[in-house]
Amino acid sequence: MNKKIAIIPGDGVGPEVTNQGMKVLQSISKKHNIKFECEELLLGGIAIDKTGHPLPEETTKMCKNSDAVLLGTVGGPKWDMQPSKLRPESGLLGLRKELDVYANLRPIKLLPELKSISCLKEDILGKGIDLMIVRELTGGAYFSKKRRECTEKGKKAWDIIAYYDYEIKRILKKAYETAKKRRSRLTMIDKANVLESSKLWREITEEFAQKYPEVQTNYMYVDNGAMQLIKAPQQFDVIVTENMFGDILSDEASMLTGSLGMLPSASLGEAGPGIYEPVHGSAPDIAGHDKANPIGTILSIAMMFRYSFNMEKVAAEIEEGVSRALAYGYRTFDIMEKSMTLVGTEEVGDIIAEEIAKI
Ligand code: IPM
Ligand code: MG
Repeated sequence: MNKKIAIIPGDGVGPEVTNQGMKVLQSISKKHNIKFECEELLLGGIAIDKTGHPLPEETTKMCKNSDAVLLGTVGGPKWDMQPSKLRPESGLLGLRKELDVYANLRPIKLLPELKSISCLKEDILGKGIDLMIVRELTGGAYFSKKRRECTEKGKKAWDIIAYYDYEIKRILKKAYETAKKRRSRLTMIDKANVLESSKLWREITEEFAQKYPEVQTNYMYVDNGAMQLIKAPQQFDVIVTENMFGDILSDEASMLTGSLGMLPSASLGEAGPGIYEPVHGSAPDIAGHDKANPIGTILSIAMMFRYSFNMEKVAAEIEEGVSRALAYGYRTFDIMEKSMTLVGTEEVGDIIAEEIAKI
């Protein structure tokens, strides 16, 4: 078997964590006799430095031509002063739009080995945390009109949250189908007591709730949802929400698992390649210090096998490799605890790749 993977290391800790992902791919390649054709591409700050643009045409073209995209992280203080269109982040948003990956799946799972580092008390964690945030990824404030104006009252800036019904319907379909394969509970999070776009989300969700009677549908305002995630996370199975709320809630929810460094994500469209990337950012403060946790990236590769390649067995092996490394006590500094063994990015990457080979 042959798979073409576009590799985009990006900025900050991106290259380090992506490298560990490559070790895992090598391990899988040997074990299952799959040939990976990996092409390294530019995106974000490094692309600005080398080509003057955060999303070079070549990158878009090669990604469209691949079976899946493995992405590191983009951004850093070096490029913070650039105008919006020339910031590293606009390259990432551009790629999401170009590949039309409107559904961002962010599983929030507390691994039993990390129970004691979760920010929550044991009685709240109960039997563990296992929820899925389905974030709309190519609409809302991120992609609607933005403007600056000078008025007689002073400077004014605008962002607009706009959604077409088709954008809401397609993400709801993904979320309901996801819920059906899980515990069949879906919570739609919005701000329908204030925002018009949220009202449309709610109306359309009500139609879906009728179409999917086997899934229990709940509604929550985002302020309450943010609170409930901490107060009683057990109540959630699938959370579906618009782009900006999803961005914020997923960082919040990561703390249930102990560290943002643990979280993987998959960004999927109708057809075409998905983008697999850790949820964490470029962490410029620790970049190059062999400190970053590569598990978010490695678990993203598990998602790649699950969703893009339809190879559940390989996905489960990668997840098992991560669990074994943790069970043996290896920890990067973000998840370090007393009596555990502190390891760097490279070492934990080696250990997980070796464990996968042994399964
Ligand atoms: C994420 C990130 C991005 C986002 C940034 C880097 C533009 O925070 O993937 O969650 O806001 O979508
Ligand atoms: Mg974010």
